[in-house]
Amino acid sequence: MSYLTVNQFIRYGGAGIRRQMRENGKNGGIAILDFGSQYTQLIARRIREFEVYSEILPWNASLGRIMEKSPRGIILSGGPRSTSGPGAPLIDGSLLDGSVPVLGICYGMQLIAHIRGGSVKKGRRGEYGRTRVIFSEGDNEKILRGVPKAIDVWMSHWDEVRQLPDGAVRFGESESGTCAAYSMDGGRITALQFHPEVDTTEYGREMISSFLFGICGCEPNWKLGDWVKRSLESIAETVGNEDRVICGLSGGVDSTVAAVLVSKVLGDRLDCIFVDHGFMRKDEPPQVLEMYRKLNLRVYHVDESERFLAAVKDAVNPEKKRKIIGETFVRVFEAEARKFGLAKWLLQGTIYPDVIESGFVGGDVIKSHHNVGGLPEDMKMSLLEPIRELFKDEVRRIGSLLDIPDEMLKRHPFPGPGLAVRCLGNLERGRLDALREADAIFISEIKSAGLYDDIWQAFCVLLPVRSVGVAGDVRTYGETVALRAVASRDAMTAESVHLPWELIDKVAKRICGEVPQVGRVVIDVTGKPPATIEWE
Ligand code: XMP
Repeated sequence: MSYLTVNQFIRYGGAGIRRQMRENGKNGGIAILDFGSQYTQLIARRIREFEVYSEILPWNASLGRIMEKSPRGIILSGGPRSTSGPGAPLIDGSLLDGSVPVLGICYGMQLIAHIRGGSVKKGRRGEYGRTRVIFSEGDNEKILRGVPKAIDVWMSHWDEVRQLPDGAVRFGESESGTCAAYSMDGGRITALQFHPEVDTTEYGREMISSFLFGICGCEPNWKLGDWVKRSLESIAETVGNEDRVICGLSGGVDSTVAAVLVSKVLGDRLDCIFVDHGFMRKDEPPQVLEMYRKLNLRVYHVDESERFLAAVKDAVNPEKKRKIIGETFVRVFEAEARKFGLAKWLLQGTIYPDVIESGFVGGDVIKSHHNVGGLPEDMKMSLLEPIRELFKDEVRRIGSLLDIPDEMLKRHPFPGPGLAVRCLGNLERGRLDALREADAIFISEIKSAGLYDDIWQAFCVLLPVRSVGVAGDVRTYGETVALRAVASRDAMTAESVHLPWELIDKVAKRICGEVPQVGRVVIDVTGKPPATIEWE
């Protein structure tokens, strides 16, 4: 199976997932038609939160294929195109005609208007980010049950519905007067210009819940435990009875959960390789190896730090660093796979935010997550990515179902390329060691203050910015460390954490006192967006 085929296979549901939809079909799940929005998986995830089954299908799935699932409701996702522009993804209008409730979101909302004879035009200006919306017919719309008359929502569009189709009722508009919500066919079709699935939209969860239970009559009968069971079946079916799998363990939650999941099916047909690429945190390699031993994973420790350091020696550009590291990783695995017998599959703990930020769903590449974007085209192994559709907190909950200790599951996320993307500028060993020391100080102080578990992710970044200082009577000219601590639910958006000033002060003094290469400590208070969590 080629790489892209595996991607599509998993994105649109592996064999086990398809079987699940068939079995659930009679109970009815939600079919989500994907028009390429970066939020499509977020819609699926919100639905999972309500314990309702959903399946993402490509926008051009045939009517027969959609209806074979007996969906209780259909959601048309957002997407980057214009309904009348070149290459616009258009659907068979009869999908809107039956008795199944439909929810159109953003592009999906415009598409319904376009199909039903309304008009969609480019707006005078786009609406992006937090936008105020005012509802007019709130009492009549089931989707607005419990939702106030005016709320802040997340918008991301340029086109707008200028003229509604005949019979449509407009029940919401943004402050600029743009149509934000309408319904048709007695409330069976609901169309929203904003994204109820994004956390920033106030009452977004309530609207999704009203669609699922109030409008579609779904049952909350789908559990995360079912996901594990089906995923085990899917892995068994995909890999078969003979193939061997090799896995790159990084020490992080995602690859560990993926490996434990697969080891439940394959036992000793799974070989794990823990590659020390030289960009690990302080004392990380021995600590994680000990943890893996306790989890009964067969792990081989490979120290390839010299090779990685040599490969990225001249790379300063973030994308170049990521690509080189990703490629070196795969080459290491291929060499190891030859040593440990013939592995046909490369298991990776890719999760959904990695996929979207690497640009596989139709948008721009924001950054190539090393376990996604950096893969060479001539890779010899096929990819197995069983948790590709999940978000971090779901991965943690699944890890807990698999009896992985909290000590591992609660570790802050750490990017595949490690400190390489937190050490801006040249990746020299001395600079990496300085960053390791500074980071260890910051994290140990956060733990001593009892704040570690309340923070999504905290870390230090080393900046190639030198400034003048004085230590004793001696002039110093050290580099800068930025402290970053963020709160997030799923890494899609993040806010800076308000750390106690005493803590920041103590950390700054300790870093400057204990790490001679550092002369100044600053704090990064930028949210995501506009920044990303990692600096590179
Ligand atoms: P950004 O920086 O894109 O990060 O806001 C979102 C989350 O993903 C982590 N991250 C990565 N994880 N490989 C990974 O496995 C990567 O290349 C990578 N880059 C970022 C990041 O730490 C944050 O939690």
